[in-house]
Amino acid sequence: QEPVAGSSILSALQKYFEAAINRAYPDLPDAPVVVAVSGKFGDYQCNSAMPIAQLLKAKGEKSNPREVAQKLMDAVPPFSWVQKLDIAGPGFINITLNRSIGHKALNEIVLNGVKPPVVDRKLTIVCDFPSPNIAKDLHVGHLRASIIGESTCRLLEFLGHNVLRISHLGDWGTQFGMLIAHLQDKFPDYETKSPPIGDLQMFYKESKKRFDEDEVFKKRAYESVVKLQSYDPVYQKAWKLICDVSKKEFQKVFERLDVKAEDVGESFYQSRMEQVVKDLEEKGLLEDDDGRKVMFGRADRIPFTIVKSDGGFTYDTSDMATIQYRINELKAEWIIYVVDAGQSTHFEVLEACAVKAGIMDPEKVRLDHVQFGVVLGEDKKKFKTRSGETVKLVALLDEGLKRAGDKLKERGRDEALTAEEFKIAQEAIAYGCIKYADLSHNRVHEYVFSFDKMLEDKGNTAVYLLYMLTRIRSIARLAGHTPESLKEAAKSTPISLDHEKEWNLAKVLLRFTETLEKIARDLYLHHLCEYLYEVSTAFSEFYDSCYCVEKDAAGTIKKIHIGRLLLCEATAMIMEQCFSILSIR
Ligand code: ARG
Repeated sequence: QEPVAGSSILSALQKYFEAAINRAYPDLPDAPVVVAVSGKFGDYQCNSAMPIAQLLKAKGEKSNPREVAQKLMDAVPPFSWVQKLDIAGPGFINITLNRSIGHKALNEIVLNGVKPPVVDRKLTIVCDFPSPNIAKDLHVGHLRASIIGESTCRLLEFLGHNVLRISHLGDWGTQFGMLIAHLQDKFPDYETKSPPIGDLQMFYKESKKRFDEDEVFKKRAYESVVKLQSYDPVYQKAWKLICDVSKKEFQKVFERLDVKAEDVGESFYQSRMEQVVKDLEEKGLLEDDDGRKVMFGRADRIPFTIVKSDGGFTYDTSDMATIQYRINELKAEWIIYVVDAGQSTHFEVLEACAVKAGIMDPEKVRLDHVQFGVVLGEDKKKFKTRSGETVKLVALLDEGLKRAGDKLKERGRDEALTAEEFKIAQEAIAYGCIKYADLSHNRVHEYVFSFDKMLEDKGNTAVYLLYMLTRIRSIARLAGHTPESLKEAAKSTPISLDHEKEWNLAKVLLRFTETLEKIARDLYLHHLCEYLYEVSTAFSEFYDSCYCVEKDAAGTIKKIHIGRLLLCEATAMIMEQCFSILSIR
């Protein structure tokens, strides 16, 4: 039985051995199917014989792994993708693939584009990111949420899911009381004339200072919150003004980074929060705790604060209302929160409370907290400016641009490119490097932010990989070919896969599908960066040993190896698809 189109080699081989195990050992339903990419022997390897022998031993049957391996080999169904199987060592089964699948799959890519793996079902997914807080500056933590969130969405969209990108703005907290009171004093005619709040950060600091020092002001601030949350139009207007200034600032940064998400802030849930509190109360899930109303979702009794002692709602309340809205009204089947690791307990307790309250059925809705670690400076301490302040995102992006520009000038690219081209290259490199440095680290770990490292042109960096892609495309271009002419050629010329290095590169390219399948399971994008780096390494090895274009001593083209240019083209297309998911221009 042949695997369906779009399934990865790895999952096809898994099914293939699953069938063999079921046939050879029908009494062992718990026998594991272990298939992995093989570095040295064969192309893949099935490592199920050892654990199966163990299971048999536990049942009192005599068997050794090599015998098990032999039995599995005798039981495999016919499968055109597999050329041969060999037993090695204590009982590994080495799998050699038929190169014809490489011809078929890579030809398909050149002709019809890179296709995603086929998913069982297209899901409605809510991805919660970058979710900054109004009137506060964007900092590097939001940078990580933006970068990881954007790529996660792009990956899931590529797989065909319906992804709703929602920025859960912090736009409803008690800080609005003091901001509004301060606005009224400082710009009394704000209702008719748009106030010139250039620096919202300063504005925030000023109002905070008054709040801390002036009792009368403090009282007014509290009253303002109450008026705002009871939808007094005057206060609503002031609130909206402040939000708009803030959102405009955010938008500038997100546009530079190609980050797209719809703002649905905490304020949107006010009436839903009231309802959720009523529901929880009716279900008897709220307990009094020193004047607060709390809910316990888990046995460890970490409280979720639903109503404060002054009657106000909290971050917890808004997340309860939000998750209900997303499941009931948006019909989310998968909810992803891209938020720093510091909030992991919050999301665990949220899930537990939502399940306990009957808001979420864990069988029907998948919930992931895509958490990430803190960003450190090169001194391995918390990322700060020299004067000790938190680094603002705008300043960081500007610095990246400057450094990328310097690097390009060092190489004389300012002479070679038009001003417009130079700007495109500069932005692609600056933002590409920042994104790639972030995404290529395992996100749960902290990572050290270093412009020097990320702008290096060797190793697993965006500069190196962008350079590789550019180089690959220039091979065909210098031979007078375009992606279109290669597409035409692919209709009659087979992709060249006879040389060991050609086949090696092809095998890496074929693993694109299983790489995406893996990331869709665990949402770790550094696998994609590792994969991209592997592709370019395999390409370098191929290119070092295989001529694509042969020239004579005078540099005149003698022979163009179309089958190899097609392999170059497939490589470039896969790399481009990876860059597109990583949101690197
Ligand atoms: N505004 C929060 C922060 O900056 C993140 C919100 C994340 N989303 C959520 N549904 N809790 O820390």
